[in-house]
Amino acid sequence: MKEELKVIIDEDKIAKRIKEIANKIEKDYSGKKLHIVCVLKGSVFFMCELAKHINMPVTLDFMSVSSYGDGLVSSGYINIVQDLTMDIKGRNVIIVEDIVDSGKTISYLCNMLKKREPESVAVCTLLDKPARRETDVKLDYVGFEVPDSFIVGIGLDYAQKYRNLPYLAELKIKEE
Ligand code: PRP
Repeated sequence: MKEELKVIIDEDKIAKRIKEIANKIEKDYSGKKLHIVCVLKGSVFFMCELAKHINMPVTLDFMSVSSYGDGLVSSGYINIVQDLTMDIKGRNVIIVEDIVDSGKTISYLCNMLKKREPESVAVCTLLDKPARRETDVKLDYVGFEVPDSFIVGIGLDYAQKYRNLPYLAELKIKEE
């Protein structure tokens, strides 16, 4: 099998869009304490770029979730592999994701974190794939809407590969 990559969004376009989102967040959270929750592993590249361009004090925390169990298809059951290290009570939380697909992960996380009495919870995702949505979720900040194809790069992987690509690419697997 041969893996072929086709660039769909280049580095410049991604950098420009991330700065736009950072500026919007800065305005929306002016005078407030902002707490960013990065959902590992996929969103780590996006979160770092985003946070660097938010010109106000920001605190960061990480959590790791898995929805795939031993299978290749999402089980719909979200397993918290690593929880947050900080209490979010009274904080203005933005959950940062690389992609919202079925919406099950972000829906589960929003419900879970809201029970911890934060001041607010918002969602920021680099990519939104609405064609695959199964659970209705409110996305407050979206980088790009993408079609239903397999996308890698900027944190998104195929079998743990390609996360470090500095652009977004469509992956096609072809028989040799
Ligand atoms: C991906 C992505 C989201 C989730 C989106 O994570 O980072 O967390 O899937 O899918 P959903 O909307 O259908 O729930 P993945 O489980 O692949 O882990 P990773 O971030 O470590 O790659």
